[in-house]
Amino acid sequence: MRVAYYNHTSAVSGAEINLMVTAKHYTKAHPIIFAPEGELLDRARKDWFEVVPLPSYNARLSRNPFRLAAGAAGMVRAGYQLAKAAAEQKADVIHANSLRAGMMASLFYWRHRIPVVWHLHDIPPKGLIGKTIRLYASLAAQSVIAISEPVMRDYKKLGNRVHLVHNGTVLSEYTEKEKAYSREKIRTELNTPQEGRVMTIIGQIAPWKRQADAIRALHALLEEGKESYLWIVGEPKFREENERYLEELHLLAEQLKVEKYVRFTGFREDIDEVCCAADLLLLCSENEPFGRVIIEAMAQGTPVVATSGGGVSEIIQHGQSGMLYATGNILELVHRIKAIEGDKQLYKQISMNSMDRIKEHFSIEQAAAKTEQIYRQAINGVLGKAEELRQSKGVAK
Ligand code: UDP
Ligand code: GLC
Repeated sequence: MRVAYYNHTSAVSGAEINLMVTAKHYTKAHPIIFAPEGELLDRARKDWFEVVPLPSYNARLSRNPFRLAAGAAGMVRAGYQLAKAAAEQKADVIHANSLRAGMMASLFYWRHRIPVVWHLHDIPPKGLIGKTIRLYASLAAQSVIAISEPVMRDYKKLGNRVHLVHNGTVLSEYTEKEKAYSREKIRTELNTPQEGRVMTIIGQIAPWKRQADAIRALHALLEEGKESYLWIVGEPKFREENERYLEELHLLAEQLKVEKYVRFTGFREDIDEVCCAADLLLLCSENEPFGRVIIEAMAQGTPVVATSGGGVSEIIQHGQSGMLYATGNILELVHRIKAIEGDKQLYKQISMNSMDRIKEHFSIEQAAAKTEQIYRQAINGVLGKAEELRQSKGVAK
């Protein structure tokens, strides 16, 4: 089974990391990664994936009608190139790794006749735009994968063509000794005391990820005399607004006089080790559709305190495999941090439960196997329809 795994951008965030980790764990499908040149294809080549570079186009929507038209034309052109390349590669199925990629891949179904699986990583837009896209999906997508319930909700009408597949991750590969080594190494590198309490928040720097709330929580803990450190890991991507937000975060840390306790690390490749080195992972996002970092931290046994919106509560069972709090409620966030940090027994229990939860429900093997099954179903569906058509023509003759 040859899979054209199509990503419309080459920037790497959770959806792209999920793509690469899942594709590495297929046992039946052979993935070929189609994307514009850039970070994603560079990483894919390093991991020995077969890749097909596609022309890039400006993916930003604009209010300027000329730019909008140019953007739309670019999308159509890229969709056409994908259709051509997927057919040349004799793909059995196209796995489109975003709503936009799905729309582009399905546009040329009449030409390539390859079933398209749309993989939705974001909570879909509401209103007329949302309705139009849903109608298009119901007419054009052979299958839809949603990463969590809120992402799937509006698509339930597609019946057995819509599937919930949570991201999966690799279980911890580290022994306790190796974890202790990572802890020592990274704490030294980040100039953080070996025995200090360390919280980390990992992900793109963006207003909706609300890293400012983590800084405010740190401030509250320090005011209470609880010496703590915060590692803000990640970089601004995609928009200028995110660059500005990073500056605002630096300013906030200065204003609250906590800059001595905050480390801005930029983008790091060693997230598993960072999780081993920290005591807690915080996720402060507004409506996080899923949150790969949560499962990555839990896989290492690092307890997570996260906002309860979006798909997060499908991962964390409050009080057992982590803690949840209401978005923006700093008092509650601080209360949850203290509850875990202040009770060694509870900390250990949550750490162990987190690893068990990942093993049982979020392993990469499960996610890869479910995805391969969806490919099979999409292919069989199209073959079945073609056969029906052939027979009905035969009968008509
Ligand atoms: N990540 C990383 N280095 C960083 C920051 C983030 O490798 O410095 C990875 C992280 O391990 C996770 C992904 O980026 O796999 C972020 O995914 P998530 O779903 O949490 O958030 P997204 O950015 O996709 O909304
Ligand atoms: C998107 C979502 C994030 C999710 C990731 C992987 O980037 O924002 O919540 O974890 O995709 O599915």
